[in-house]
Amino acid sequence: MGLKHLLCLLLSAAALTVSGVLGEDGTNKAYRWTRESLPVLLDTHTHLLNTPLFRGQEEDEEKGRAKTCGIECQGSLPPMDQAEQERILGYETMYENGTRTHTDVILQGFNKTSAVTPAHSQTRRKRQVYGADGRFVISDSHFITNYPFSTAVRLSTGCSGVLVSPKHVLTAAHCIHDGNDYLKTARKVKVGVLQLKSKRRRGGRRRGGRRRGGRLGEGEAGEEQMMEEGKEQNSIDGDVAGGRNGGKGRRRSRIREKGHVAAADGIIGEGGKQKGFNRVRRSPQPGRQPVFRWTRVKQTRIPEGWIHSKRSTNSVSSDYDYALLELKRQVKQKPMKLGVAPSAIPLARIHFSGYDADKSLLDGRGDEKVVYRFCLVEKESDDLMYQHCDAQAGATGAGVYVRLRQEAGNAGGKRKWQRRVIGVFSGHQWVEVEGGDLRDFNVAVRITPPKYAQICHWIHGDPSLCKEV
Ligand SMILES: *[C@@H]1O[C@H](CO)[C@@H](O)[C@H](O)[C@H]1NC(C)=O
Ligand SMILES: *[C@@H]1O[C@H](CO)[C@@H](O)[C@H](O)[C@H]1NC(C)=O
Repeated sequence: MGLKHLLCLLLSAAALTVSGVLGEDGTNKAYRWTRESLPVLLDTHTHLLNTPLFRGQEEDEEKGRAKTCGIECQGSLPPMDQAEQERILGYETMYENGTRTHTDVILQGFNKTSAVTPAHSQTRRKRQVYGADGRFVISDSHFITNYPFSTAVRLSTGCSGVLVSPKHVLTAAHCIHDGNDYLKTARKVKVGVLQLKSKRRRGGRRRGGRRRGGRLGEGEAGEEQMMEEGKEQNSIDGDVAGGRNGGKGRRRSRIREKGHVAAADGIIGEGGKQKGFNRVRRSPQPGRQPVFRWTRVKQTRIPEGWIHSKRSTNSVSSDYDYALLELKRQVKQKPMKLGVAPSAIPLARIHFSGYDADKSLLDGRGDEKVVYRFCLVEKESDDLMYQHCDAQAGATGAGVYVRLRQEAGNAGGKRKWQRRVIGVFSGHQWVEVEGGDLRDFNVAVRITPPKYAQICHWIHGDPSLCKEV
């Protein structure tokens, strides 16, 4: 089926939809990206460090990280002063030749961040997959190779990551470095991006004549359009909530499922009716298989907050579990912008996509399937988000994003939805709560204004481009 035909279907589906969800259309200030000025981060001094030994220990993602200082523990710590914040935002750079440097920074315009947001939710749950499995396997080769799912990349170390510029991937620090040293696998880390590869016929002609790659060509614009339409559907109904029925029968529900995924991906709030998507059908494009294209990493940056030194206690390291990889060459896929989640309101729903290592879910061809999920944040502080989004080893490092309306001022009329990466999925953690009990959560590291300033500086190397978000 042609793209035009599909869009027609979608548009008529949207027209049929009961529009009971217009309260979320951006008139509500809380659900907008707001412009915010940032502290300016400046390098002061860079010096050479020893070559790393690459003896870091890989984390056992099944067990989860042993007790770290999470939201509750941090609530009892004194607020961070500027000197400490600057120390922690200092960073290490490792080049592909093994050379390693440390850079000190200063922060101009640093504002102390507020205290912890109070908790809600009491239920005790288990492990990384909580109750009904809430993961969606994105198996359609068109979806998987187009925005937003195409921003999910795979690392050769076994983690996931997210494209935040044509040349930069944000991932979890623990995928590269255990806090004491770089992992063995970090020595020659590569990043894999899924691309549609057409089966070439003899003579090099391709079937179908569609363009390849993630260029902003027809395909991608169409996909965005489709996602935009998806938001009008704006709900997850019972069908989706209970629809991941594991192995058997998935093939049959897949086509419908991906319609729902588009809808879910567009959600901010809840409510509204789900109609229309069930009718969407796409015929697969024969001969076009998604394959990984691997790119070497030129340099890796890790915040000092992650690195344990004799001087530092380890109390904030879980807040700094992120790293930025600079690729040797640009990729064509459209990156997802970085953002800072508005702090005034609790986050509703977060989304992320990565490459879970759970083979049972992935039909044994796991490494080509992006797994998407969305869930509510159960507890959050300025630095961490606790949730029970199902995820397993392999998904760590995935970019956590939300979708909000853009600020007024651009192009007038209706504000567009925009997705931005506001955190990094850090994996499973045992968290000590009041009374010494341990509870387990899946944890994401949140990008705060100072962290944004730092990552932006790593991407652009020019503080003037990082003055506001
Ligand atoms: C810091 O706070 C002051 C007022 O409290 C505000 O005017 C200023 O813009 C803030 N700076 C940053 C970088 O957020
Ligand atoms: C390694 O690469 C960095 C950056 O390209 C360069 O500055 C440094 O001199 C190199 N070191 C060695 C030992 O080649």
